[in-house]
Amino acid sequence: MDQYVIKGGTPLTGEVEIGGAKNAALAIIAAAVMADETVTIENLPDVRDINVMLKAIEHIGAIVERPDRHTVRINGKYINTVNVDDEYIRKIRASYYLLGALIGKYKEAQVALPGGCAIGARPIDLHLKGFRALGVQVDIAHGQVIAKAEHLKGTHIYLDKVSVGATINIMMAAALAEGRTIIENAAKEPHVVDVANLLNRMGASIRGAGTDVIRIQGVQKLYKTDYTIISDQIEAGTYMYAAAATHGDVLVKNVIPKHLEATSAKLIEVGCELKEYDDAVRVIAKNPLRHTQVTTLAYPGFPTDMQPQMGVVLGIAHGTSTITESIFENRFKYVDELNKMGANIKVESNIAIINGVEKYSGARVSAPDLRAGAALVIAGLAAEGITIVDDIYYIERGYERFEEKLASLGGLIKKVSSEKEIQKFKLMIS
Ligand code: EPZ
Repeated sequence: MDQYVIKGGTPLTGEVEIGGAKNAALAIIAAAVMADETVTIENLPDVRDINVMLKAIEHIGAIVERPDRHTVRINGKYINTVNVDDEYIRKIRASYYLLGALIGKYKEAQVALPGGCAIGARPIDLHLKGFRALGVQVDIAHGQVIAKAEHLKGTHIYLDKVSVGATINIMMAAALAEGRTIIENAAKEPHVVDVANLLNRMGASIRGAGTDVIRIQGVQKLYKTDYTIISDQIEAGTYMYAAAATHGDVLVKNVIPKHLEATSAKLIEVGCELKEYDDAVRVIAKNPLRHTQVTTLAYPGFPTDMQPQMGVVLGIAHGTSTITESIFENRFKYVDELNKMGANIKVESNIAIINGVEKYSGARVSAPDLRAGAALVIAGLAAEGITIVDDIYYIERGYERFEEKLASLGGLIKKVSSEKEIQKFKLMIS
């Protein structure tokens, strides 16, 4: 099993290039199969979840060509089954996007119930409510969602809770429904807009993505196009917070600063200096870090996917901070691990009370999920001594060449797979 071994204490400095947004890409791959022509997708992140999703569409007959690691060509013409189920697809959450795509295109789908990071109960009731409202008969049997419709009829759907997944999924199915669908209380995340933009480029008629009311006029068919995925705001935020925690100075390139507003605002609050450019942000963390209060919210609020990284920064900030997690109930699993590194954090219900300590000390910890794992790596880079992060499988689901990018910023980090390699690393850096 691979691990990261990290010698902390070096401020990160330099430049880092951000890749395409994983959570947009997952939906975009599903949407691409809705045409019977080739959809070319660029700026594809080369991470595990994406590769699982590509395998899944290949399994059902889509043609998938990868001219290079960041480009994929997908043609859905030869899809020969609407049954998507294998041991890999069961592990990723975004398998649910194949429901929306296949229901839209073929009026039926049979997809394994989604897995994903264990960050709390992750129901899909809102997705199913939306499909049913469009006229789909939906059943759950043998660990699969089984959906079939005679016709998809446009309708009015109110989402009881703001959900990125449900918004995108309903939007995909409704793109090929008869008549007009209105989604109210829709998610406004940048990747909702990205998927809508792709579908529109394919011939769909979707208006209002990025606001809380999305209007979709169903069309008969979708066509080929070329599309470039937006950059990953969470990957960007992770490097920004790594710069803050290590008192570094990092230029994070190829980003959309507007998408980073909440992430950036909190860094300024804790005492970092931020410089914004057209497609880059620079974080300068020379000053001591200060405490603050954070609540996770749907976009444009502070993203739950940045919450663990924020916890790591606040763990070594002066004073007492709080983080309220309002999206997922089980997203504080990194706290026990961070406390092993000397943090002083208590969790009461959905609030973490963080008493800042002077510094972390290296320890052996394990990544409980994707973002929590990335946060523990940041803690390791800021800590005194050696940190070993186990279960980095989770981190590789969503971060491309994580250790290489951190090492290019001066971080002393290496991916290893044995005790011997850990010893070698220790000798090398001593
Ligand atoms: C997406 O998950 C992301 N995953 C998550 O990314 C991200 O944390 C989350 O959005 C919030 O931004 C993907 O895009 C694959 P939601 P999703 O539906 O779509 C409740 C990462 O680290 N809900 O917006 O599953 C739900 O329990 C991750 O990259 C229902 O109650 O999130 C949660 O409380 C992990 N019923 C809230 O809504 C439903 O049917 C928001 O969830 C659906 C959701």
